[in-house]
Amino acid sequence: MAEEAVSKGGWNPNQYDRFKAEREQPFYDLAALVQRQPGMRVVDLGCGDGRLTAWLHRELEASETLGIDSSPAMLEKSEANAGGGVSFRQMDILDATDEYAGQFDLVFSNAALQWILGHETLFPRIARLVKPGGQFAVQMPANGKAPSHRMAAVVASEEPFRSALGGWLREDPVQDPEFYSALLREQVGCAEQLVRLQVYDHELAETRSAVEWVKGSLLTAYLARLPEELHAPFLDRYTEALVAEVGERSPYYYPFPRVFLWGRMPV
Ligand SMILES: C[S@@+](CC[C@H](N)C(=O)[O-])C[C@H]1O[C@@H](n2cnc3c(N)ncnc32)[C@H](O)[C@@H]1O
Repeated sequence: MAEEAVSKGGWNPNQYDRFKAEREQPFYDLAALVQRQPGMRVVDLGCGDGRLTAWLHRELEASETLGIDSSPAMLEKSEANAGGGVSFRQMDILDATDEYAGQFDLVFSNAALQWILGHETLFPRIARLVKPGGQFAVQMPANGKAPSHRMAAVVASEEPFRSALGGWLREDPVQDPEFYSALLREQVGCAEQLVRLQVYDHELAETRSAVEWVKGSLLTAYLARLPEELHAPFLDRYTEALVAEVGERSPYYYPFPRVFLWGRMPV
């Protein structure tokens, strides 16, 4: 399938921040994969509110860091994090790969590229942003098979949601780690690479806490496409379906796999 963004607005920075510590740890783990050189020019694709972008800039002692995000709601908060070499721009990641080709020592993207379909063509395109000898570092959730994600598709397939969504279901483009390893070698042409799957063991207070988690991520794509009057019925039915699938658990152990990709382009 051709590349297509599957996130359609609907981002709510406050909801996203509800599991701040859990969502932040993979960002720091991704930053730890970067081979440091002072004075790098960095781009953060899908930067959200830019708070972590500014942290990355300081941590890497970068000369310039550009954060790109398509969500006005997320970027509205980024102004507070701009300055001292950090700037932000509202644009689609796919447009950025054309406009900024060959301009960055580091292309960084945490928890954003899972919203763009067609990874076999996306990653060669992302790599075009990197200068010769530069690096990229990407982290994406790989939890498409989790009950929280499967149940969203089940409920979206039920009426009245199915008709309201025109049959749309969120497609998860994230593949197995082996796919990315082959892709980075054969299509992207990395000189060096690292691909790692890491499972984070989140302990949530109860099953229903998982609803609050996905309300800040996966469900935004469904809610953005549903009329306002179906938001509460969709969330109620989703909660019911998730509880029926995994039971009323307290605490609820929510294992969360994530795939990390790091690569260096040839000089
Ligand atoms: C889960 S948030 C991650 C934010 C930040 N990177 C972090 O680690 O906290 C995903 C972000 O990707 C952005 N995004 C998704 N698809 C995008 C696209 N095609 N172009 C630009 N931004 C996109 C969303 O607007 C959202 O702010």
